[in-house]
Formats: sequence, C-alpha cells, structure tokens
Amino acid sequence: MTLLVESETVVSSVLQKIESRTAKVGVVGLGYVGLPLALLFSNEHFAVTGFDIDTKKVITLGHGGSYILRIEPGEIQAARASGFTATTDFSHIRDMDVVLICVPTPLDNYHQPDLSFIVLTAEAIAPNLRSGQTIILESTSYPGTTEEVLVPILERGNPIGLKAARKGSSDQDSMDGEFFVVFSPEREDPGNENISRHDIPKVIGGMEENGAKIAAALYGSIFRRTVPVSTPAAAEMTKLLENIYRCVNIALVNELKKLSIRMGVDIWEVIDAAKTKPFGFQAFYPGPGLGGHCIPIDPFYLSWKAREFDFHTRFIELAGEVNVGMPYFVVDQTIEAMGLQGKALRGSRVLVLGLSYKKDIDDLRESPSLTIIELLQKRGAHVEYNDPYFPTVGRGRHYALDMTCTPLDNISDFDCVIIVTDHSSYDYPKIVECAKLVVDSRNATKGIQSPKIVRC
Ligand SMILES: NC(=O)c1ccc[n+]([C@@H]2O[C@H](COP(=O)([O-])OP(=O)(O)OC[C@H]3O[C@@H](n4cnc5c(N)ncnc54)[C@H](O)[C@@H]3O)[C@@H](O)[C@H]2O)c1
Repeated sequence: MTLLVESETVVSSVLQKIESRTAKVGVVGLGYVGLPLALLFSNEHFAVTGFDIDTKKVITLGHGGSYILRIEPGEIQAARASGFTATTDFSHIRDMDVVLICVPTPLDNYHQPDLSFIVLTAEAIAPNLRSGQTIILESTSYPGTTEEVLVPILERGNPIGLKAARKGSSDQDSMDGEFFVVFSPEREDPGNENISRHDIPKVIGGMEENGAKIAAALYGSIFRRTVPVSTPAAAEMTKLLENIYRCVNIALVNELKKLSIRMGVDIWEVIDAAKTKPFGFQAFYPGPGLGGHCIPIDPFYLSWKAREFDFHTRFIELAGEVNVGMPYFVVDQTIEAMGLQGKALRGSRVLVLGLSYKKDIDDLRESPSLTIIELLQKRGAHVEYNDPYFPTVGRGRHYALDMTCTPLDNISDFDCVIIVTDHSSYDYPKIVECAKLVVDSRNATKGIQSPKIVRC
C-alpha cells in the first residue's frame, strides 16, 4: 500500500508540473523535427532546453538565429525570451522532467538501419538519468528499437542502477529507482500549410501506463488529440505503416504513369478524375522519385527487421525498386525527347529546375534531383541548376556537386529544362515560352499547351 502511494506521488508530481507549466522539457536533436517541437513547447510556456552535438546550431540559436528557412529568427528570439536555451552539455539532462529524442535514423551504405545516432544519444543521456524522468523516443525506427536498443543502454549506462518501469513493476517496487520510457512518432509534414501541428494527433506507446500518462499529459498541452497504443513497438509500427503506405502507393502511381505514357493517356487527368470518388480512393501523385528523410528510408527499417522473423517484405522491396528507378526514367525520357529534336544529351546544356525533394522547402536529403544531375553528368551533359532555396550546393552524405544556382534570365541558352521540383515561385508559362524543350516530371506545366513540353 505504501509503495503504491509512493509511485502515485512521483507520477502525480510530474503531472502537476505539466499542468502548471513548470515541467522542464529537454529536446535532443534540434533539426527539422526537434527544433519546431522545442518551439511548440516553448510557446506553451514550458521551460525548454535543446541538446545537440552540432556546436554551430547551438551557437546560432544562442544568438537568436535560425538555420531552418521556415523558422523565423523572431520565433527563436521569442522562445529565448520565455526561457528556451540550447546546449551541447548533456549534464543538464539531469534537470529535465521529460526528454524527447529527435535524432536522425538514416540507412547505412549497405541500406541497413543506422542507429548510431540513437545509441550515442542514449549513451549521453544514461549517466545523467534520474529517478522519475520520462524519456520519449520520437525518431522513426523499426518495432523493438525503444525496448531492445534504447532501454538497455539507458539501464546499463547509469551509475545508480536505475531501471525502466515495466508493466506491473511499479506494483512490486518503489518507483524510486525507475524512469519511464515511451515511443511517440513524429508526424510532421514540412511545407504543408493546410494542417496545423496542433491538429495532427499524437500516437503514444508507453512501456507501462505511468510513462504513457505523463507523455499524454505533455503532448496533450500541444496536440488536440493523443492516441494511446499498448506498447512502444505498436507506436513504432504505426509510423512505419503510415510511411510504407505512402511509399507503396507512390510506387503504384509511378508505375501507372510509365504505362500511361506508353498508352498515350494523361495520368494526371486520370488521378484528378479518380479522386472525385468520395470513398475508397486517396490520390497519390507520380514524380521523379522519392526524397526526404522519411519515405525513401523508413520502409527499409522494417524490411531489415523482418528478416529476423524469416519474413520477406515484398511490397516494400517492389515499391523501392520502382521508386529508385524513377530518376533513371526521367533521364531516359530526356534523352528520348532531345533525340526527337535531333540532339544528343552528350555535350548539351541542361538546366535542372528545383533541387529540394518537394516543393517550397529547403530540404535536399535523398532528393531525386541529386541522382538526376549525377546521371546527366555521367552521360556527358553540361548541367546547371536553379533553386531559390539553394544558392549553392556542396557535398552531402551521398553527393558531391559543388554547384552554384544559375539565374533564370537565359533559359533559351539551354537545350533542355527539366522540372524536378515544382516550386510555387516559378513562372511556368514564361519558362515554357523561353525554353527550347521542357521535361516536366511534376505536371507543373498543367494547362499549358506547347509542343515543347514532355510530361513524364
Ligand atoms: N524531417 C521530417 O520531415 C521528419 C518527419 C517525421 C519523422 N522524422 C524523423 O525524425 C528524426 C529526426 O529527423 P530530422 O529530420 O529532424 O533530422 P535532422 O538531421 O534535421 O536533425 C537531427 C539533429 O540531431 C542532431 N544530433 C545528431 N546526433 C546527435 C546526438 N548524439 N545528440 C544530440 N543531437 C544529435 C543533429 O546535429 C541534428 O541537429 C528521424 O528519425 C526522422 O526519420 C523526420
């Protein structure tokens, strides 16, 4: 009876702090996901501390600056005025009531999950853990990551023998000596102005009910709806289901696009017609290939894990194969279109319009534009690019371009313009008017009639 009262006291004290906005919230990883999340909590009057290993980011934030285009420096300054700080010093983890982990989860060179960022984060948190804290993983990963990877490091690495609370554990032991662990996937859609962050329900999978309760109270201060699931693995799988659903459907529509081109049917017209069906159909659009830190990567986290269960995820592999082939398809279509104009790609000047992986954002990760540029260069074309979000482009994980943005005043000098990203700021009628040939992989020239346009 006494033990039960003690555990209730720990949880109700944290819940009370959340209610009164005196709870201290730590966000580890201040990137595209972590920084906006930190600002959301700061706007809700929580004292937020951001943790990152990137000293440049921490210094920029310390000066009230921003390194993400859609986040104005004013937002950082407002957050700083209400107590937001950023640091590389993980000893401050000790002062936090709740810690949210938003670090990268890429694939390695062998297309396998690279959990090194989660591992390093866990190793940095562990020595600073204290009893009653809640640790929430937000990074996308395969089912089992929270309990099989994160928890053992946290338990092993803390010098005072703290254990993660498990179902039933708080009935037997005092909660003094335990911390709570939760997985709650991030569902941000960068660049989507149609839905407010507050309206995106937050899925929460706790290892037991006290952590889940604390996470629900904290997220409930921001998100209008929280969705509890029974385990971290269920929450991890939820995120993967969502992204695999997108990946597979995009592959389907990409394949149908290729067939439609052969059949002389306009796939975009077909999708517009199909989406008038008020049930049972959701529109997905073809494009030059997948990009971003999620859809091209996350499904393969599950494929990898599935092997442990002698299971082959055929839909994921097939979708991957179709989507990976799309940049090659765009280049083949370009070669064909130029051939019809009596030109060879080798030695020609090609302008790639748009570098980011989707329109109106400044994110280049896994963008099909990078593959397209590389393929064009390998085939002997002189390639330049224009993208208002990237004055220059240097070297990244999988590319080394070292290029500078070409202004759009001499479009007629190029043999071909390839629309890879349909940024809203482009004047498409004018581009078509000036260009000799436009290869449009996004249907950005919809409604414009011209023999110079090849939609693919
Ligand atoms: N970007 C999106 O739209 C999006 C959407 C949903 C989910 N996600 C998931 O969210 C997670 C984070 O993605 P992101 O886009 O914010 O990545 P990001 O690369 O933009 O940011 C990650 C940040 O973590 C920091 N970091 C790396 N290792 C660290 C460590 N050991 N300790 C502290 N900080 C560390 C990096 O310096 C960087 O600032 C990924 O798992 C991703 O799959 C991303």
